[in-house]
Amino acid sequence: MNSKFSYPKVDVLAMMTPEQSPPNAVSRPWGWVILVIAVVALLFWGLRPPVDAYTRSVLSLTGDAAKGRSIFVMNCVPCHGQWADGEVGPSLHRVARHKSPAQLVHQIVSGETPPMPKFQVDPQQMADLIEYLNQL
Ligand code: HEC
Repeated sequence: MNSKFSYPKVDVLAMMTPEQSPPNAVSRPWGWVILVIAVVALLFWGLRPPVDAYTRSVLSLTGDAAKGRSIFVMNCVPCHGQWADGEVGPSLHRVARHKSPAQLVHQIVSGETPPMPKFQVDPQQMADLIEYLNQL
């Protein structure tokens, strides 16, 4: 132990001013807050509604608004008006601001809000329709 290479024994903790001392109870609550936020965020992420295969394939496609417009004219005009400004159904202008693409698909295919019927079109046509709604 008495080798000439031994370092002088210094009590580093004793030399520290209070500001330099290791983190203690003052900083620990933040650790808990961050942990709780992380757990809650993970829970929300884990519990989000699963996106079904149909919606996923719609979202993976690029829509053509002009084609979407003709699908709209054939199916939606009686209720939503010639220019989507509302009749029996509400105006759809800026609808994409309060509904995500997945929510729009759900609104259109689900038939959950009578009298709006269920619309079942192939994913490409649905992507076109969503693109048209996005541009309203
Ligand atoms: C028979 C009438 C009818 C037809 C046809 C119809 N809708 Fe609707 N639609 C409604 C009604 C009524 C609502 C409001 C439902 C509610 O929220 O209670 C609505 C709501 C919506 C909404 C949600 C609006 C919002 O502000 O959140 C979207 C989007 C929509 N329709 C799109 C369409 C599209 C696209 C078509 C054609 C494929 C269509 N609708 C055809 C009646 C109709």
